[in-house]
Amino acid sequence: MKRNILITGGAGFIGSHVVRLFVTKYPDYRIVNLDKLTYAGNLENLRDIEDRPNYRFEKADICDFDTVCELFRRYDIDGVIHLAAESHVDRSIRDPFTFARTNVLGTLSLLQAARLYWEAKPEKYEGKRFYHISTDEVYGALELTRPEGARSDFSAHEVYGDEFFTEETKYNPHSPYSASKASSDHFVRAFHDTYGMPTVVTNCSNNYGPYQFPEKLIPLFINNIRHEKPLPVYGRGENVRDWLYVEDHARAIDLIFHKGKVADTYNIGGFNEWRNIDLIRVLVRTVDRLLGRPEGASERLITFVTDRAGHDLRYAIDSRKLKNELGWEPSLQFEEGIEKTVRWYLEHQEWMDRITSGEYELYYETMYRYR
Ligand code: NAD
Ligand code: TYD
Repeated sequence: MKRNILITGGAGFIGSHVVRLFVTKYPDYRIVNLDKLTYAGNLENLRDIEDRPNYRFEKADICDFDTVCELFRRYDIDGVIHLAAESHVDRSIRDPFTFARTNVLGTLSLLQAARLYWEAKPEKYEGKRFYHISTDEVYGALELTRPEGARSDFSAHEVYGDEFFTEETKYNPHSPYSASKASSDHFVRAFHDTYGMPTVVTNCSNNYGPYQFPEKLIPLFINNIRHEKPLPVYGRGENVRDWLYVEDHARAIDLIFHKGKVADTYNIGGFNEWRNIDLIRVLVRTVDRLLGRPEGASERLITFVTDRAGHDLRYAIDSRKLKNELGWEPSLQFEEGIEKTVRWYLEHQEWMDRITSGEYELYYETMYRYR
């Protein structure tokens, strides 16, 4: 094998797309998927590639330092793409400790295992890479200085403010989730500065696409529209997010893993800002149309609920550095991406049903308190 790459969190949403891309594109790499299979991890996401000869799955916790060290030795790991994390802001508000444990201590455990294994080799860090996947949420929130940018279709690219997150933006996290990710980013950079580990960090905007756990806005709402359940819109739905199709993120990860500069940071975004309420109306119309209902009929399901605590108003990424230095751009228009995504969820109802049945259903019931 030309390379032995450890991908953590490969049974989750983004991780499964990254694993699929690497396993199919690089038959001469061995891809080891380390995942604890928390509520968010699902091996069904990888059924199509699980029998490939260059793929291995290891059920383990990134916080379990001894096991992680053993996996480095067993597979002679020379590259890490680290996605394993607790990833949902609402859960972090209810249970911040789990986020500190997995996102901070888990990342530290991986870094330390990589350091001990690589420093003991004759060639040390040569040919090695530790790639940490992070979020734009570490930068905090931007102002809504152009709220009039509101729109109802895909006809123009609107921006809702004059500022964007760049790689120089100061960290200012607000939620326990983003605080834990910010902390893990600092540890990764510290391992470069202190030990010389060849690290790279990327901060990406909101992803959407197939296999996303239905606690996140887009899959949750597609499923609720289908089942004519309420659509819980936090606050007034005026918060803005920058959406990127998950396969475009996976492509960026591939490029940066191979070509990104050591110790550097790249922002990854879609140049695709949407106010939540506008996006929700597009989802409603798309699901209605694909289900043969009168378009917009499901708007009656929109239910404004108590706002999320500390809800960041606007995220918007400036990813020009990645474009200028490595030539990456999002490939999919949002219109096309949303159509593909809605179709995928509607055609994979069994995937959704298996997740939303049983215990998880109870979680839904306790999580949302409608006004
Ligand atoms: P996800 O919640 O869908 O998947 C997380 C995966 O990590 C799951 O498979 C889970 O089983 C695994 N995991 C959790 N704790 C673990 C542990 N202790 N040990 C081993 N495995 C563990 O998350 P996602 O949306 O795919 O996000 C992946 C990464 O990308 C995260 O680091 C997240 O912060 C980052 N990110 C996500 C987005 C987004 O929009 N989803 C945007 C930017 C960055
Ligand atoms: P989410 O998908 O949880 O991603 P993030 O919080 O990481 O941006 O939420 C996207 C936006 O949608 C965010 O502004 C919160 C909002 N939201 C709702 O209004 N209702 C919901 O039920 C959920 C899950 C999110």
